[in-house]
Amino acid sequence: MLSTTTTLQQRREAAIPRGAATKHPIFISRAAGAEVWDVDGKHYIEFASGIAVNSTGHLHPKVVAAMRDQLERYAHVAFPVAAYEPYIAVCEKLNAAAPISNARSCLFTTGAEATENAVKVARIHTGRLGIVTFTGSFHGRTSLAMAMTGTVAPLRSDVPPSHAGVYHVPFPIEHHGVAESDSLKALEQLFRSTISPDQVAAIVIEPVQGEGGFYQAPVSFIQTLRKICDTHGICLVADEVQSGFGRTGKFFAIEHYGVEADLIPVAKALGGGLPLAGLIGRESIMNSAVPGALGGTFAGNPVSCAAALAVFEVIEEENLLQRAAAIGERITSRLRDLKRRDYVLPIGDIRNLGAMAAFEIVTEHGGNTPDPEATKAFAARAREEGVLLLPCGAFGNTIRLSTPLNITDELLNEGLERLTKALLQVAK
Ligand SMILES: Cc1ncc(COP(=O)(O)O)c(C=O)c1O
Repeated sequence: MLSTTTTLQQRREAAIPRGAATKHPIFISRAAGAEVWDVDGKHYIEFASGIAVNSTGHLHPKVVAAMRDQLERYAHVAFPVAAYEPYIAVCEKLNAAAPISNARSCLFTTGAEATENAVKVARIHTGRLGIVTFTGSFHGRTSLAMAMTGTVAPLRSDVPPSHAGVYHVPFPIEHHGVAESDSLKALEQLFRSTISPDQVAAIVIEPVQGEGGFYQAPVSFIQTLRKICDTHGICLVADEVQSGFGRTGKFFAIEHYGVEADLIPVAKALGGGLPLAGLIGRESIMNSAVPGALGGTFAGNPVSCAAALAVFEVIEEENLLQRAAAIGERITSRLRDLKRRDYVLPIGDIRNLGAMAAFEIVTEHGGNTPDPEATKAFAARAREEGVLLLPCGAFGNTIRLSTPLNITDELLNEGLERLTKALLQVAK
């Protein structure tokens, strides 16, 4: 008899195009906290968190209670039709949490919508077209967000980048040969040769790249970008869709940089597992858009808003910012120990900002040459060992570890044990 997984795989192949791909060939039946079970009963520890969404774990009781309570009242009215308190409360929370003076927020449904709306607002505010983004960046799969994304395959494979005014500058990654000064030179060059800075509406940067490989922009780099933006009247957009909501040990990653952004798109962990995104920005910029320019039918769904309000409470009550720092520390010290052992798969750079932790898999011990094939094999082996994780990175050799921020020490250690076994087995 076929396993449930095999039957679902066959149905999936017959019903869904290959473009809507899934990293792991498994089908989920149940999840709780930092644990997931598939339809054949196999147990996994969550080191993927639904791409950094389940920061408060799967189905946190407080988040579920808030959703239930909201469902007893109303599930949808559409903010453009009639307003409701949970939407306002989420925006108040975002305004208070964001490192932006006199902030205003509005809500959307996906990260791509949030990043596209950041660009839209910046363009309306400045009356300019130009947008500067970075190589290796990821801003979403919709048309403009895809053009802003600094990675070709698979997102832009067979789709020529089609948006006027979008330019990419190399993101500084010292150990892959791009120093901060190289990035700044490239930006200067862009301003001299291609588009004058007074035609640029926004510089959009992930303070810590997500899909690009958990690479952190140097502090001095973002500070310099802030100065450049101030000099030329450009909006600085910090895309915190992946790095936000406590994952880096501060509410927003940009708080590690000692500067304010002008606009911050957020999504993912905000909704505690339900779709919710937002754009936070300086009042003078956000109010440039005329009434009706911002929003959408499902933008700021009431049940998602109720969940988000519970997420804010859980982050505070369970001290998840401190917990993020401790998780990052525990993961990286284990990885540093493993890196010294010549019988596991060769580990290259290890990095983290709070619980945004990652390591690279390289071709030889002590080397720096990416090994994307071994990285794929390791992710598959880790799944077989019962830990769900996602490779990423411009070089295809980064393993990111996005655990729920409330994972217990016991599960975190067990996950790291399973990961160690996989590193050993793929090395053989
Ligand atoms: C930094 C960043 N921006 C934007 C997006 C797009 O978000 P969504 O997939 O919700 O559209 C992502 C998704 O991974 C992301 O990591």
